Amino acid sequence: MAGSDKLVAAARQARAHAVSDFSGFKVGAALETDTGEIITGCNIENATYGLTLCAERVAIFKALSEGKRSFTRIAVVADTQDPTPPCGACRQIIWEFCGDAEVIIANLTEVKTTLRMKDLLPLPFDKRLL
Ligand code: THU
Repeated sequence: MAGSDKLVAAARQARAHAVSDFSGFKVGAALETDTGEIITGCNIENATYGLTLCAERVAIFKALSEGKRSFTRIAVVADTQDPTPPCGACRQIIWEFCGDAEVIIANLTEVKTTLRMKDLLPLPFDKRLL
């Protein structure tokens, strides 16, 4: 299986664990480290709605909490025809912890598009400005 296929397959598997009782919208993410490890996440909703964590941030926080610090790509999977790109909050977190990573957006059957973070978050705020 080619590299990005493996990452997308992992995101599809992670999506199955989504805790999305309120929106019914399931998302999976798979993050690749610079050593080729894959860490997955799914969206997690709760009764307050506002405390929802997107699949991307769950994957990144899981990876960071395991001591991983360098990432190359992230795949995001939803069951939509139009690409489901990371939300604004996730773009900020992806940028700060993954830099100009590749973002692969796929659905259950195909990759819809591949983008770079610098295009998804132009003029970012980050620690260089602090
Ligand atoms: N969601 C994600 O997990 N990632 C995205 O890229 C877009 C949105 C989740 C958040 C919420 O649980 C549900 O999808 C509907 O917004």
